[in-house]
Amino acid sequence: MSKSDEFKQHLEQGYTFKGPSIILGTGILNNEPISHAQVKIPLKTLNRHGLIAGATGTGKTKTLQVIAEQLSLNGVPSVLMDLKGDLSGIAMPGSVNPHVEKRRDLIGIDYDPTGLPVELMTISHENGVKLRATVSEFGPVLMSQIMELNDTQRGVMALVFRYCDTHHLPLLDLKDLKKVLQYVTNEGKEEITKEFGAVSPATVNTIMRKIIELEQQGAEDFFGEPSFEVEDFVRTVDGKGVVSIIRLTDIQNRPKLFSTFMLSLLSEIYETFPEQGDAEKPKLCLFIDEAHLVFSNASKDLLEKIEAIVKLIRSKGVGVFFCTQTPTDVPDSVLGQLGLKVQHALRAFTAKDRKDISKTAENYPISAFYKTDETLTSMGIGEALVTALNEKGIPTPLAHVLLRPPVSRMDILSDQEIQTLVSKSPLVRKYNVELDRDSAFELLEKKISRAEAAAEQASAPVPKKTTSAKTAKETSLIDELSKNTMVRQIGRTIFRELTRGILGSFSGKKR
Ligand SMILES: Nc1ncnc2c1ncn2[C@@H]1O[C@H](COP(=O)(O)OP(=O)(O)OP(=O)(O)O)[C@@H](O)[C@H]1O
Ligand SMILES: [Mg+2]
Repeated sequence: MSKSDEFKQHLEQGYTFKGPSIILGTGILNNEPISHAQVKIPLKTLNRHGLIAGATGTGKTKTLQVIAEQLSLNGVPSVLMDLKGDLSGIAMPGSVNPHVEKRRDLIGIDYDPTGLPVELMTISHENGVKLRATVSEFGPVLMSQIMELNDTQRGVMALVFRYCDTHHLPLLDLKDLKKVLQYVTNEGKEEITKEFGAVSPATVNTIMRKIIELEQQGAEDFFGEPSFEVEDFVRTVDGKGVVSIIRLTDIQNRPKLFSTFMLSLLSEIYETFPEQGDAEKPKLCLFIDEAHLVFSNASKDLLEKIEAIVKLIRSKGVGVFFCTQTPTDVPDSVLGQLGLKVQHALRAFTAKDRKDISKTAENYPISAFYKTDETLTSMGIGEALVTALNEKGIPTPLAHVLLRPPVSRMDILSDQEIQTLVSKSPLVRKYNVELDRDSAFELLEKKISRAEAAAEQASAPVPKKTTSAKTAKETSLIDELSKNTMVRQIGRTIFRELTRGILGSFSGKKR
């Protein structure tokens, strides 16, 4: 048997699956693509996460596009974090050219240019569905996490949330949080001290400063109502999974907001989705392009949380895929959990690069057909070293793959096309509305002014007793005012309490 026939047989054995799978491309041996030596990935193990890595311009983003569109064609929706704004083309059909035809024939696939159902989303001012979350939903643990608070400051945050929960003060945005913090050491000082003990104004000031820092990164746009329901990521249109593209081009220099957003999204999905046993295909896949931005600026604590959630979210049928230049950008603890690896070419410019390359090579299954470290540096554009998990959860044989071209457009959408897409979106109609409900800010203002008026009225005679009687009355007024706002909020808060516990207990276990 010739070496190439032996190779073809080797791949056929390693890449034949019972359940549904997607074709990634065809195997390459000694830099020669072998015709019809298809390399596939089973949908069943895509909830075991993945990595797409490689030097700049080697084809990572196109690989992400290929996987997302094949998932969509199989009815699996996905969420793409688009940090460079180069993924919107998925909404439009690609075009046939000789380059594409050559790949198509070598791989042995049909090539039908197809646009997929796309929903454009934003956490700031870009055109698209506005993604938001309330401060209450975030909870004190995540909130402290992103502000990197110490234990004392965390204690104050916990107190603030507890106070707002029991007194039905919805914390919708950062303005609400600041108002309550201010109240705690000023007008509400007496009440708080009675209920919880004294709170240090210095600690509150520090937290205030951290909130302002968050605001400077644009977090005001993100916190508020209506908050996004993650079930809206899980949609199909005509049997095709909806690709939700979160446009994050304006977030590159605001890393804190990005890692916060990531963690909140993951934990929200984790809480909301039901457990899903062994399924034929994932329920949702999440792709994070330029993932080094999540990790390079995250605190150790935040990393631990991300690691824990990534591990747990698998059982909900959710796959997370990190796209980055070198695998060393991803912490080992997360890297160890990734089942699919698509490694594009690496370039060796420095001693550190060479070290990274040999470390990367060691992380791949040994192959009789390749010298992994040499292949890593010599692969062409749109080629990659691939290993996945087969249906039994065992790594598939290492394969140097000529990847299939995307069926959707490789170029981005024009402004006009984006405008048209956004104007047709049912989610834009649902979420891009301004809600101005009474929240902690307004309710406390009312409480304070009523207390002031009462104090003025009663200032001369018997001031003491009336004060406490008034407080009870005021509280019931607040209850009344906030009833409507709270209906939805309460349901969510109970949920949140659970996660607050879960997230809290993780960090507890770790120490
Ligand atoms: N699967 C593919 N089929 C056809 N052409 C491809 C494929 N992958 C990559 N290419 C070609 O390579 C170019 C660069 O790919 P891509 O933008 O995906 O690189 P990248 O690794 O994401 O780069 P960067 O690090 O700059 O983000 C594409 O514009 C396209 O022309
Ligand atoms: Mg890219």
